[in-house]
Amino acid sequence: MNGHVKDPSLAPQGHRRIAWAEREMPVLRAIRADFERELPLKGERIAACLHVTTETANLMRTLKAGGAQVALCASNPLSTQDDAAAALLEDGIEVHAIRGEDTDTYYDHIRAMLATFPTITMDDGADLVSTLTALYHETLDTVHPRVRSWYESLSDEQRETLTRGVRGSTEETTTGVIRLRAMAADGVLPIPVIAVNDARTKHLFDNRYGTGQSTVDGVLRATNVLLAGKNVVIAGYGWCGRGLAMRAHGMGSHVIVTEVDPVRGLEALMDGFRVMPMDDAAPIGDIFITVTGDRDVIVERHFLKMKDGALVANSGHFDIEIDLKALKRLSTHQEEIRANVRSCKLQNGKNIYLLGEGRLVNLAAAEGHPASVMDMSFANQALSARYIKEYAGSLERAVYPVPKELDDGIAELKLKTMGVNIDELTEAQKAYLASWKEGT
Ligand code: NAI
Repeated sequence: MNGHVKDPSLAPQGHRRIAWAEREMPVLRAIRADFERELPLKGERIAACLHVTTETANLMRTLKAGGAQVALCASNPLSTQDDAAAALLEDGIEVHAIRGEDTDTYYDHIRAMLATFPTITMDDGADLVSTLTALYHETLDTVHPRVRSWYESLSDEQRETLTRGVRGSTEETTTGVIRLRAMAADGVLPIPVIAVNDARTKHLFDNRYGTGQSTVDGVLRATNVLLAGKNVVIAGYGWCGRGLAMRAHGMGSHVIVTEVDPVRGLEALMDGFRVMPMDDAAPIGDIFITVTGDRDVIVERHFLKMKDGALVANSGHFDIEIDLKALKRLSTHQEEIRANVRSCKLQNGKNIYLLGEGRLVNLAAAEGHPASVMDMSFANQALSARYIKEYAGSLERAVYPVPKELDDGIAELKLKTMGVNIDELTEAQKAYLASWKEGT
């Protein structure tokens, strides 16, 4: 089997951990059982660029059970779990992912996905679709050299198969959906994409409870600091930021929120948190966590105001929320003092501690989201892949929501697996809710 993993001998450990995650993924298990019977993805070649974790491994096995040929690479150089990658490769799934891979290797792995000539792609951050878009329009100067030289070596027929052969894609995260909507608005998006992130059974649980808990987990595993009594500054009060604020507060931290959206700022205030600009938060924070999906949220002037010993981490998709270049410039010395903790001695004599190299701290320093929330996120992925197979012919080159019946069906199944029932609307209630004629 074609692949590039750190150490194939890690496979047995990977299998054990994949089985552990599977216990908490009953919805995906049920989908897998259906897929095994119905083979809805037979004949499809699926290339996925996702965080390579034990939960993703369960998604890959589900897609394979559905009859697809499956290949996987990492959507972040620091989130790969090498044992999960080894186990998948042993299971006959083409995997190209090594934790800590450099940028060239990262794009070698993206290229390996394209070299499978996929019919469906899956992204977490839109790296596959944005590469495919550039190839489709032959704007090759925006493509990484490793991908470009490979593309240039293809025959005209192969180029055609690559750029016209993908029927649709799915997108896992907020940042990816934003990039894809920008492509659609510019009229360059070459395929239909399902915005998995925007499903209610995705962002309400994965972004809020998953990122909330696992980000705290990442900070704790990296540092083992006590959160109680600390000033924790959270930049961004979106779905992830709300979950993170809730959990940090629950552990006794004084939460300070920074925002640029007045409604979100107001919401954070009324949820009981202090709200202020980063310039004001910088001198009083003990722990800073960015989760905005934006760039330059913590920059040079903020570092200069921070207390000695401040911890700085990011849980947003790209490593551009914290200005790492400025931190390097300001440092007289930088040193890795614990796994995932870089001590930065500034010219002003203070130490700042950067966690997980400014990359998603929940994946760099911990294991990412708990399987129980990924169960729903990946149920959306699996069902969206089947939807693309069934309906690609009637979809435009646009960003689509996950169909409501799939989203609701996932919530129903999740509740059922948790042994929880809810009420059902009566016919009279349905008629009342659909009508404007009844009043007091
Ligand atoms: P969201 O759109 O719900 O929230 C982002 C918030 O950040 C918005 O309220 C926005 O006003 C605010 N913001 C933007 N620029 C800002 C700035 N300069 N200063 C302060 N606030 C600012 O997005 P969501 O779903 O919370 O995702 C945030 C990021 O986290 C995205 O990059 C997303 O891809 C990523 N993500 C990371 C996960 C992880 O495992 N760590 C999981 C899910 C999403």
